[in-house]
Parts: sequence; structure tokens; C-alpha cells
Amino acid sequence: MRIDRIALNGFRNYEWETVRFAPDTNVIAGPNAQGKTNLLEAVYLLSCARSFRTRFDRELVGFAFSEAELLAEIWSHERAHTVKIRLHPGQTKRITVNGVKKNASELSELLNVVLFCPDDLNLIKEGAAVRRRLLDNAISQIRPRYAAYLSEFNRLYEHKTRILKDWREKPSLLETLDEFSDGMCRASAQLIRYRAAYTARLNETAPPIHREFSGDGEELTIRYKTVSTVRDPFASAKEIYYDLCDHQESHRRAELESAQCLSGAHKDDLEIFINGRAARSYASQGQTRTAALSLKLAERDILLTETGEYPILLLDDVLSELDSRRQEFVLNRIGGGQTLITCCEDDAISERTGGQVLFVNGGHIR
Ligand SMILES: Nc1ncnc2c1ncn2[C@@H]1O[C@H](COP(=O)(O)OP(=O)(O)O)[C@@H](O)[C@H]1O
Ligand SMILES: [Mg+2]
Repeated sequence: MRIDRIALNGFRNYEWETVRFAPDTNVIAGPNAQGKTNLLEAVYLLSCARSFRTRFDRELVGFAFSEAELLAEIWSHERAHTVKIRLHPGQTKRITVNGVKKNASELSELLNVVLFCPDDLNLIKEGAAVRRRLLDNAISQIRPRYAAYLSEFNRLYEHKTRILKDWREKPSLLETLDEFSDGMCRASAQLIRYRAAYTARLNETAPPIHREFSGDGEELTIRYKTVSTVRDPFASAKEIYYDLCDHQESHRRAELESAQCLSGAHKDDLEIFINGRAARSYASQGQTRTAALSLKLAERDILLTETGEYPILLLDDVLSELDSRRQEFVLNRIGGGQTLITCCEDDAISERTGGQVLFVNGGHIR
């Protein structure tokens, strides 16, 4: 998969700009706050119609504009496609591929990206939410049904949370509480099966990368952690559902008292071990960074296996955060697919990566 050309109209600080990408490495260089990350954000948007920085379309539309449009020529599944996304705050996005209207999950089938930004380097040390996001993003790209279950789950979760917060003022809300809890158990059961399966693949794919990367045979292990009553996350959705109902029932009272959802897949986590010890508690910063890189590169390899094509790799300001040995490792591993790397003008990354260099300045690219 690759993106050959993108035109940005009224998107962030790009008023009207077109850029051609090389099929392999593209270095996007320039001073701070000129639009480097905005350009990666636009490419990311083409893969799932969402931004990785904001939930609000109005932030994506240029200050002086009422709507934004992205137009791109991409190559995927052995043919060229023209993708157009129009963002009009307050209205639903309008997405077309080759002139035919599409939805967000159909975009994911066409174009996949793996994004790596400096926050991801803290993937292991951060709270569980960032690791769940890694799972959710990765699985949504290869399993459109997962994305549908996830948005159903999120809808139920938000609604149930509102009931738990407001029931004292409005006791009639309690009439529908159990229905929402049941819906969450059903949706959770589905999410858990997908997450368990994906974690198993990560646990096959990432350890060899980590072993090579760490140089001294460090053993990385990734384990999926979900609701405690689930006996087997690989079981049928029905079996998992019954296990989840047990947990739900025993927490019903506590949920009412604490005004929080305490039962469901929204608390899931990935447990990461290095040489058998919990990386979050015991690993050094260098080790957790290496593990984070290994996980991301594994995500890329899994996408290749799934789709037969490398996803586009987006590296936003991460190389400059790494020491030269880790930079070297990443650069040696990104061959085969298209990569977009942002960096500051004065770090010498473009010399080390080779490839096309694009300079970004004030929303203009040359
Ligand atoms: N909706 C918007 N309209 C116009 N400019 C924007 C918008 N959103 C962000 N910007 C501008 O984009 C710049 C930041 O771009 P960014 O790509 O994050 O920078 P960097 O080159 O450091 O990665 C800032 O100057 C900011 O004011
Ligand atoms: Mg940036």
C-alpha cells in the first residue's frame, strides 16, 4: 500500500497544497509548528476517517475555512484509487473512493497505517488506556466487525455511566440499567475474543523482534488481561458472556454506589513481561522503549500477513527521541513499505534515512 499524492484544501494550516510522496522513504522536515504532524494526520485520516489527535472535525478545518477537503491517490490491492474526504463540522463526513460513497470501515479495508509517535515510547509505563488503544486501533484495521462492536460497546458504556451518575436524582433511570449492563456483557464478550486472538499474534510476532533488537536475547512476553471471571478468553462468545454476567451481578451494588461502570472490557490491559518480570514495574527506560518499538513493528508485520501488503508507516518525531543504535534498528527494519518520517530540520535524520526529503514551512511543502 502506498500514497502517491495528496491534496489538502483548508485542512489545519494547509490552505491549498499538493504533495507527491516517494514509494519508499519520505522525510518531512522543518521547524516546529509548521505542519509536519498535520500532514501525517491527513494521511492517517485516509485510513480510518479519524484523527489521532482530536475527536472534533472542527479542529481539523483551517481557521479561515468552513470546510476541509482531502484528495488522495493511493495504491492498494494492486490498483490505483482516488479517495476524497470532505469534513464539514456539524455534518457527517463525506467519503468517496473512485467517486463511490463509502464509510469509515470500508476505508480501513483500502488503506492501513501504523503510527508511531513519542507518546508510544511510554506505551509500557503508561496506564492501561494506551495499551487498549493499541489493541483497538490494530484490530479495527483488520476486522471491520470489531470496530462495529467497539462503537456499540462505547455507546452502551456512555449511556450506562450516565444512568449511574444520575439515578439518585432520577430513580426512574434504573428501569433500564440492567438492559444496558446486559448489552455491555454481550459486546464485551465479542471484544474479548478478538483481543485475546490479537494478543496471541502479538505474542508470536513481537518477541523475535525484541530479541534481535535488544541484542542480548531478552525475552518479551505479552499477556492479555481481562475481566477476572472470564475463564477462557478464546471460548465462544456465549461462554464468555455468561462469565461476564457473573462479574456484572456481583458488582451491581458497587456500581450504583460508586457511580461507575466496574464490569466490562473497558478495563482490559496488556501485561508486558521482560525475562519473566513485569516490565511496567521492573524494566529500565531503555528496555521499555525497545519493547514499545517491537510491539509497533509487530503491528506492521501482522498487517502485512493479513493483507499481503505493508501498511504505511508514520513515524512522528520518534527517531530523534532514540539513541543511534535504536534508530539504526528501526531504519533497517522499515524496508519493503512506504514510510513517512517527520523530524526537525537540524537533526541529521534525513542523511541517515535516505529517500525523498520534503520541507514544510507555514503550511507549504517543497
Ligand atoms: N485548524 C487549524 N487551522 C489552522 N492552523 C492550524 C489548525 N490546527 C493547527 N494549526 C496550526 O498548525 C501548526 C501546528 O502544526 P503541526 O503539524 O502540529 O506542527 P509540527 O510541524 O511541529 O509537527 C500550529 O501553528 C497551529 O496553529
Ligand atoms: Mg509535530
